[in-house]
Amino acid sequence: MKIAILPGDGIGPEIIAEAVKVLNALRLPLEMATAPVGGAAYAAHGHPLPEATLALARDADAVLFGAVGDWKYDTLPRHLRPEQAILGLRKALGLFANLRPAICYAQLTHASSLKPELVAGLDILIVRELTGDIYFGQPRGRRSAPDGPFAGTDEAYDTMRYSRPEIERIAHVAFQAARKRRRKVTSVDKANVLETFQFWKEVVTEVHRDYPDVELEHMYVDNAAMQLVKAPKKFDVIVTGNMFGDILSDEAAMLTGSIGMLPSASLNERGQGLYEPSHGSAPDIAGQGIANPLATILSVAMMLRYSLQMPEAADRIEAAVQRVLADGLRTPDIHSEGTRRVGTAEMGDAVVHA
Ligand code: NAI
Ligand code: MG
Repeated sequence: MKIAILPGDGIGPEIIAEAVKVLNALRLPLEMATAPVGGAAYAAHGHPLPEATLALARDADAVLFGAVGDWKYDTLPRHLRPEQAILGLRKALGLFANLRPAICYAQLTHASSLKPELVAGLDILIVRELTGDIYFGQPRGRRSAPDGPFAGTDEAYDTMRYSRPEIERIAHVAFQAARKRRRKVTSVDKANVLETFQFWKEVVTEVHRDYPDVELEHMYVDNAAMQLVKAPKKFDVIVTGNMFGDILSDEAAMLTGSIGMLPSASLNERGQGLYEPSHGSAPDIAGQGIANPLATILSVAMMLRYSLQMPEAADRIEAAVQRVLADGLRTPDIHSEGTRRVGTAEMGDAVVHA
């Protein structure tokens, strides 16, 4: 199996170094190759996603991605900004399924914005559709309003749309992920108001016939937003469209208290995937050796589970992370009284040891 390693900017290279340490310690039959991406690639090659980097990613079974972006590139034209690299990779690889777990580790319940009893043991997975919905639907634009009470005034409009195959493939990802978990899928829609999501609900219900062993429930997005803060542990897998998923996954992330702990995966139809921490390049703490590498290390576990079919190795990484937390090791972002403050490399070493 081939892995493309793209460290990127800011804390990217620091956290990727720890993830690679963990991967090497497992002694798996993997070929790894590293390439520049984002601002680092712009600085070296004049483009945030050079052709050679894209070719390496295309040819790999999985991509391990750090983060891109830095203030010093903020004045570049949009197509040369570091963030274009992640958009370009999503498009080139056809990554349509974004998997974002929200896990609240027993030792970190104090960091949540909710009462500890609501989040202790929380383990939910949000499956967000990534290539459709109102974010990409055409037509869109500005015009003079053609009708209605404000006819003749300026207006802006976007188009919400989903095709049957787009809904089917994301539903399959959700049901299959649920089979590896607690076998429950909540499909989040707004079928009471939107035709797009009435259709979504119908198609998800049809796909569910292939998965009689998985429970399916439908929930309106406004209720889902409430339930996430009222009783989040009732969810297992949540599947939803691009926009609702964008919002709900950030809401769910905050239940766990720390962005430095949350991995993510983006998959295509061939099972190829891009794995990255949910956070960005954190330029405010880059180069200080204090970034939390656990989100990236846990992204490696997702990579082993979803793209490389090595679930035992994934389990070992997740167990090791639990272990170092139980031993009281904390990077500054999750530090609290009575625990031991460590840096990025010390945390990575501890996971390898565990
Ligand atoms: P950010 O996630 O980089 O940082 C937000 C806050 O969380 C900062 O205070 C940071 O220090 C902290 N933080 C993030 N990761 C951490 C870690 N592993 N350990 C400890 N603390 C951590 O988001 P922000 O500041 O909005 O964006 C910074 C840059 O990252 C921007 O250029 C942005 O475009 C880019 N970005 C890139 C993403 C990607 O590569 N996929 C995703 C999100 C943002
Ligand atoms: Mg977001």
